[in-house]
Amino acid sequence: MSTTILGIESSCDDTSAAVITDGLLRSNVIASQKVHEAFGGVVPELASRAHQQNIVPVVSEALRQAGIEAKDLDAIAFTRGPGLLGSLLVGTSFAKGMAIGLGIPTIDVNHLHGHVLSHFIKEEENQEVPEFPFMCLLISGGNSQIIMVKSPSEMEMLGSTIDDAAGEAFDKCAKVMGLPYPGGPHIDRLAAEGDPEAFRFAKPHIPGLDYSFSGLKTSFLYTVRDNLRIDPDFIEKRKADLAASLQKTIIDILLDKLAKAVKEHPVKQIAIGGGVSANSGVRSAIEDFCRRRGIRAWIPKRSFTTDNAAMVAIAGYFKYQNQDFCSLDLPPYSKVQV
Ligand code: KG4
Repeated sequence: MSTTILGIESSCDDTSAAVITDGLLRSNVIASQKVHEAFGGVVPELASRAHQQNIVPVVSEALRQAGIEAKDLDAIAFTRGPGLLGSLLVGTSFAKGMAIGLGIPTIDVNHLHGHVLSHFIKEEENQEVPEFPFMCLLISGGNSQIIMVKSPSEMEMLGSTIDDAAGEAFDKCAKVMGLPYPGGPHIDRLAAEGDPEAFRFAKPHIPGLDYSFSGLKTSFLYTVRDNLRIDPDFIEKRKADLAASLQKTIIDILLDKLAKAVKEHPVKQIAIGGGVSANSGVRSAIEDFCRRRGIRAWIPKRSFTTDNAAMVAIAGYFKYQNQDFCSLDLPPYSKVQV
């Protein structure tokens, strides 16, 4: 008997629904919210309103593209957290209501587990997937973590950011340069034409496997501010060099801790995930890092790096196999729970 799961993701500013049958992806519809661009960041109240508008058409489209009807679903998986509470409430409530209507179970998914498990989304039958255990560098707009993934349900957080996430470092520095939100992809594009050694920014010195990006952000801000005093056109003239140097510093910080993690916890495979894993420099640096150590690198398809419901559906599929369903009174949560 086959198992078909509907996944729903609404943790931040993307409303997404996806259908997966026995691990194979049948649809993955994402409605991104443009309303936040004018504000230079996600406005929680506007995000939840946009989810309200998008959720019904997005779910309908996901079912249509999958070529199924709601009655063909075996369970509904939804992102329970972490994320923006007002946004999570929309997906959570919708999933519960739809499941009650259909008389099928609901499955709560930790958004971060979804990012990690996105490597198991199959687009064709014989696609290779990672073997447990593997290490995952999870880098997004809200999180930067090194995770030991022992099984789909057993994940040990080895290190995490103590302040900003890697994505925030990209976005906040991009904002200093006057680039649109989210700035990460703009930095990526500009960095390709710049000199990564042109500027030196502060790197953190914190113990263990935790990350910190707030010092880098301040150092970037001061460099720009000091140079603007000398030349008002500084940003325009040096934007590619600034982007390349910033990107290199972020990659150095990420890889320094990853090297330490691999030394303390030897592994044969490393995966990356989260929005920042779409970054060209990060992707090639990880490939190089793994090649030099004889480790297999798992680099996700770009469409599975940012928020999407396919990763929620696959995480739900794993839980379905253990009949790990949730009760209907389970509320969403905003903070990280690994
Ligand atoms: O995983 P995600 O979609 O949302 C969270 O759950 O946080 O990640 C969004 C983050 C943003 O900070 C965005 O700037 C960053 O991912 N990002 C990138 C790139 N594409 C997205 N950062 C650097 N280079 C990119 N190409």
